[in-house]
Amino acid sequence: MSIGTELYRKTLLTVAGNKIVRTLSIKYGKRLASRFISSDTLQGALAEVEALNRKGIMATLDHLGEGIKHLGEAKGYRDEYIRLIEAIARSKVHSNVSLKPTQMGLALNRRACYDNIRAVAAKAQENGNFVRLDMEDSPYTQATIDIVRRLHAEGMTNTGTVIQAYLYRSGQDVAELIRGRVRLRLVKGAYKEPVSIAYRKTSDVSDNFKKLIAMTLDSGLYTAIGSHDDRIIAYTKAYAEERNIPKKAFEFQMLYGLRMNEQERLAREGYRVRCYVPYGSMWYPYYTRRLAEKPANLWLVLKNMFGS
Ligand code: FDA
Repeated sequence: MSIGTELYRKTLLTVAGNKIVRTLSIKYGKRLASRFISSDTLQGALAEVEALNRKGIMATLDHLGEGIKHLGEAKGYRDEYIRLIEAIARSKVHSNVSLKPTQMGLALNRRACYDNIRAVAAKAQENGNFVRLDMEDSPYTQATIDIVRRLHAEGMTNTGTVIQAYLYRSGQDVAELIRGRVRLRLVKGAYKEPVSIAYRKTSDVSDNFKKLIAMTLDSGLYTAIGSHDDRIIAYTKAYAEERNIPKKAFEFQMLYGLRMNEQERLAREGYRVRCYVPYGSMWYPYYTRRLAEKPANLWLVLKNMFGS
């Protein structure tokens, strides 16, 4: 990342963590966040997914929530995901689900977290669906990989996780997960990480991202490329074309509210495209990460605020 971009990102993530800013934003910022959040409710989110499906775009639904304080909350999220998977099956929309391990209790009790995620994965397996474990900040990287490996060992191969190109360790993680046939979403990485473990320069992150894309495409493992970056998208297309890797061997993923025209264009070109659709009332941390990623996202929010 350039020094300016990095400073912007760090400042925004730090300010967003401030208690007063947080309270004020939660009170007044909901309307602004609606640019990135599909709905407060499951029904509303399913209606958005139906609309996306009509445009040839698949979805992954995320019930917002992370960093919980009690295991009871984790059980509530587990049950919400089970309801979500049942509702997807009933409504026949084309969507899988993404969840955050800390939402299932990872920071509180690893065993309980595993049991919660396992229950969601089992429900998904029963319904022929897939569960993605989003990747959070670095204290949880290894634990998240361990959970998904254990799920696979127990026959729940309908699960996958996310690898962040900004971490130095990611090449090794991808090699290991390819061997285990664990399906991956590759992304740049959205958290504040120290330079001792993560690349800072934009060009280093992109170079590593490309290396990981090449590794997964060469392996034949079905992979998701999660990025809005034209250069990453163009690289993926060219790499696949040169090596005769079919369009159905991978998918592009983008976030709800970002580059919707590009999502439709890729789908029209015959690529598989999946939109990450968050819903629910715990929108604040997700929303501030989107603002931290790009100053341009602030403009999107302001435009939204003034109704243009
Ligand atoms: P980035 O924001 O770096 O933009 C690079 C360039 O792309 C821009 O300079 C511009 O040229 C173009 N561009 C980007 N947005 C544009 C826009 N709106 N309009 C026009 N041009 C635009 N992170 C994580 O740590 N754990 C996770 O589990 C996930 N999960 C996840 C799922 C999905 C589906 C996505 C898309 C992303 C994530 N992420 C994530 C977030 C990810 O790590 C990263 O922070 C963001 O995707 C931002 O990086 P990009 O590669 O999208 O481009």
